[in-house]
Amino acid sequence: MKHTSSQTIDLTGRETEIQPYGTVVNRPLSLDHKVRLASANGLNQILADTMTLRDMYKKHHWQVSGPTFYPLHLLFDKHYGEQAALVDTLAERIQTLGGVAIAMAHDVAETTRVARVPRGREDATIQLFRLLQAHELIIGEARDAAHAAAASGDDGTNDLLVSDILRRNELQVWFVSEQLAGAGLADRDEEAVGSVVNTHA
Ligand SMILES: [Fe+2]
Repeated sequence: MKHTSSQTIDLTGRETEIQPYGTVVNRPLSLDHKVRLASANGLNQILADTMTLRDMYKKHHWQVSGPTFYPLHLLFDKHYGEQAALVDTLAERIQTLGGVAIAMAHDVAETTRVARVPRGREDATIQLFRLLQAHELIIGEARDAAHAAAASGDDGTNDLLVSDILRRNELQVWFVSEQLAGAGLADRDEEAVGSVVNTHA
């Protein structure tokens, strides 16, 4: 770099990036470049969605109200912490493969497939439905990416997706689902659930 002081450095990233997002550098992992690239791309989508779910849990931890305030306040923060751990696991797998992990909120917002959540407060039942919807999206993505990784020989990514992402999300779905028992909405089918939270197309 030819910069002499911080005043002259172009911080837009045009001159400072040492590896562009969406690329993978070589790693001696006995995995083809195209396999590592496909795995990193799939993991980045799941990472963006997991960061969004993590933050949704904290939002709901803060904003929950009603007679179930206290148990939900605690449950949401527990799941937040577990999702935060998954974020680090996903990001470090992407870097391990030679990729670039998505990290900043503005990039995550442009990338996530989780339906946009309003800034204001919502009823606890709607909070729970939104969480289940995000979990199901991530579970589907994790299964698809796990199958693709296994088919291409990326056993490490397959194991991470199944053992960490899939199992943790399935377990959290159980806990969130049971909170809806007695709400009169737990037995609704997927279509009805989607309409309750005004799901995106
Ligand atoms: Fe807190």
